[in-house]
Amino acid sequence: MAQEMRQARVDELVDPIAQHPGYDATESKIALWGHPLHAMTVAFPVALTFCAFGADALYLLSGETFWARAGVWAAGTAFLFGLAAGATGTMELLMVRGIRIRAPAWTHFVIAVLLLSLLGANWGYRIQGYEAAVLPYGILLSGFNVLMVMATGWHGGKLVFDYRLGTSKGS
Ligand code: HEM
Repeated sequence: MAQEMRQARVDELVDPIAQHPGYDATESKIALWGHPLHAMTVAFPVALTFCAFGADALYLLSGETFWARAGVWAAGTAFLFGLAAGATGTMELLMVRGIRIRAPAWTHFVIAVLLLSLLGANWGYRIQGYEAAVLPYGILLSGFNVLMVMATGWHGGKLVFDYRLGTSKGS
């Protein structure tokens, strides 16, 4: 009896977020012919963040100036492409009601903005003397950025594959 009453009370509970009229409106709006721009742009900062760490590691091993120069270019382009990816993601977050209303989308935004500030720091730190900047702090920052970009990308993947955000419902 007590069990049934408890179940009846649970059945009465209403989730105001899930009841919102825009809850199921999660299709990407920032897309080209149905292909979400955020998914297309994130590949570049992810890859370039790994490249910056790779260039730093090769500088550490070889001492070649070439790798320090490659590191500053990779760090700079990771930041600039990261800003572009952040812009497409932010437009999606603000313009799509079913994305805007979900807390995990905002969690992703916070992690991503932290990542962007670290990518910017990694580039800015190298501008005045890219060779001297690599050891030890440049490579430490690059290594940390690799961990951060993995966390951001993993979390973004959860938004798409678990919550189905930014996906198409088909015709
Ligand atoms: C700064 C603001 C950002 C916001 C507001 C944002 C928002 C979102 C949203 C709403 C999604 C769900 C899919 C969609 O609607 O397109 C998503 C997916 C994703 N995000 Fe972000 N994002 C941001 C930055 C970034 C950055 C900087 C990265 C990595 C460099 C990143 C990596 C990803 C990945 C890997 C996915 C999954 C894409 C897929 O598998 O299709 N995001 N993001």
